[in-house]
Amino acid sequence: MTANTRTDDPSVDLDDIGTNPTSNPSFTDLIAARLSRRRLFGLGAGTAGTALLQACGGGGGAGAAPFPILPPAPAPAPAPAPAPAGPMKLGFNAVAKSLADVVSVPAGYTASVLYRLGDPTAAGVAAYKNDGTDDATTYDRRAGDHHDGMTFFGMNASNKWDAASATRGLLVMNHEAITPVFLHPTGQTAVGGVRTVADEVLREFYLHGVSVIEVNKSGSTWSYKQDSSFNRRVHTLTEMTLSGPAAKTDYLKTKYSTDGSKTRGTVNNCANGTTPWGTYLTCEENWAGYFRRTTAVGSTPKEQASFGRYGVAGTSSAIGNGRELWATVTPDTADNLYGRWNCEVIGAAATDDYRNGPNTYGWVVEIDPFNPTSTPKKRTALGRFGHEGACLGPVVVGKPLVWYMGDDSQNEYLYKFVSTKNWDAADIGGGIAAGDKYMDDGKLYVAKFKADGSGDWLELKLGVNNITASYANYAFADAADVVINARHAADAAGATRMDRPEWTAVNPKNGEVYLTLTNNAARTISTTDAANPRFYNDPKGTSAQRGNPNGHIVRFADTGGDPAAVSFKWDVYLFGARSTASADVNVSALGADNDFSSPDGMWFSQAAPGLLWIETDDGKYTDVTNCMLLGALPGKVGDGAARTITNFDGATTVQQATFVGKAPGTDGLRRFLVGPKECEITGIAESGDGRALFVNIQHPGEDTKVADITTPAKFSSHWPEGGNARPRSATIVITKNDGGLIGL
Ligand code: FEO
Ligand code: CA
Ligand code: CA
Repeated sequence: MTANTRTDDPSVDLDDIGTNPTSNPSFTDLIAARLSRRRLFGLGAGTAGTALLQACGGGGGAGAAPFPILPPAPAPAPAPAPAPAGPMKLGFNAVAKSLADVVSVPAGYTASVLYRLGDPTAAGVAAYKNDGTDDATTYDRRAGDHHDGMTFFGMNASNKWDAASATRGLLVMNHEAITPVFLHPTGQTAVGGVRTVADEVLREFYLHGVSVIEVNKSGSTWSYKQDSSFNRRVHTLTEMTLSGPAAKTDYLKTKYSTDGSKTRGTVNNCANGTTPWGTYLTCEENWAGYFRRTTAVGSTPKEQASFGRYGVAGTSSAIGNGRELWATVTPDTADNLYGRWNCEVIGAAATDDYRNGPNTYGWVVEIDPFNPTSTPKKRTALGRFGHEGACLGPVVVGKPLVWYMGDDSQNEYLYKFVSTKNWDAADIGGGIAAGDKYMDDGKLYVAKFKADGSGDWLELKLGVNNITASYANYAFADAADVVINARHAADAAGATRMDRPEWTAVNPKNGEVYLTLTNNAARTISTTDAANPRFYNDPKGTSAQRGNPNGHIVRFADTGGDPAAVSFKWDVYLFGARSTASADVNVSALGADNDFSSPDGMWFSQAAPGLLWIETDDGKYTDVTNCMLLGALPGKVGDGAARTITNFDGATTVQQATFVGKAPGTDGLRRFLVGPKECEITGIAESGDGRALFVNIQHPGEDTKVADITTPAKFSSHWPEGGNARPRSATIVITKNDGGLIGL
């Protein structure tokens, strides 16, 4: 997400508020379009270098077809174009940068709107009026707002997971946040900082979370099925269980769950991930800002140290009431609906209030989309932080599973979780029970990028890497304390402070991992390091933008091609920049057809292994262009060279050594889509045959002022309906007019 529009101040970007006070050193040939079941699961142990497949975000899990492909009777359609022969090449003309209020795609492609904010997801629910007057009690059966990370789970005629399905599937997506100005008749009603219309708050509870919707292709047209029995909304009122080291400990006890075994809801679900058994992972990112906490009275110093490290509301009044003021409906009470967003100490014990409420957020949450009545589970072994996403690494029978995870805040870290149990393909389709096997027990690591181009994975475990009761900034007590306070643990271990770690993506061709670092206004000329090497000014009009405003993409290869390795080699694959910037800023030599700023969403196609999609969530280059989607064909770690970048702060110059990948040129990186005004492009998935690409358009028109809500002509965007309509976040589906693979 880009901004919290409730403040009416587009300069407020909650992602931009760092809370890391430490001074840690900042420091093959193409695989066939689909790996067959035999190739995936028939390979024995020790073949990590060859049996590569993953699907962190977009494409239904392990990429293999675990079930026979039994598509429903298809409508007659022209035979799709065959996959291009020969070396992979980007097969589209670059889309020009644009400030228009439209979605632009290359000639030969069609983008259609599929699923918009408010669209009904159950029979009998009326069409969305989009004027703020729809009945609040229907919103648990409508699309949420701010569509974000997304996975397509192909489904066969037996209603089982079939990753190769080209015509039918469950599209599962996050609804990260809200643009409040457009959700009610005239924006949020608040009197003296108190929300006075409970129905407005109820709408907002439902508009966060996750959608599961059935989608089908008929002829060449995709649509969602309003009355599918698989449709489901998971939101802030959905009961969830907690598992792993922190579950059922004192830290998680609340009035709602006096044994610390469960919580209610998920919030600020940003990017996503998958499992090889066919479930969805949704990641809780900027959860800390939703809590009300106007006083620290009653909190222990250790609790305050924990709150402070995560930015849970402090004592400043605006932030302290929570970003949407939810707790103010029933201020200073510990009711289960509104007051549970108040984490002040107001009861006699932790089981009488919600002082521990924030400890039940900040997790990776597993949802089984094929079982609409299953209870989502928060996996505490994967650590608690500002979870951007959780990308599944290469899946090999007999080897541990691994997920790579960014913590998106200024100067935060990159993590990975390695399962204790080795992968057994018999667990495919095992649902949440399979998650219990692989995701509740394992090792949590944080990354240290070193100046020589190598790196270390530092284990986060009580008693190692300085994570002890005598650590100066936080006295760790037990294993639960370590995962709940993973940021403190990573500080203690000496992790590298990064330029806002967003999505991770794993190249199915070679297992290398890519990490978007979206931007960092807090990077200074004296705190650059080899992996975060730039400090510069990228002026926007007359305003200076200093630090690393355009972001970059780091990539790394775990040693020996083993995702469980504790060391790696890295380089910087790509630097964001204006094409007109100097060579020390535009390090990747971007041109008009591929320059961009603030990479965020990122995902490798599974149908076209080697094709990388990069999405932007930008506010720095938006004087020139709206946010965008780019297609890329990256090489590999080490395909470039060592380089020294000259940084300049207006007075002094400082040299910073780094390692830069081969410049992409327009053959290696090309703009594929530009979105409407004030949107973020995020979330990406493809049908099982790679011939439909699903993309989310988040928060068009987000900077519209509340004062202008009665003057539609002043809305910043009217996308997708046009005219005088209020803008709506939406999923679009992109197809190639000749039925071919997207992007090639
Ligand atoms: Fe929700 Fe870090 O983007
Ligand atoms: Ca972002
Ligand atoms: Ca994001």
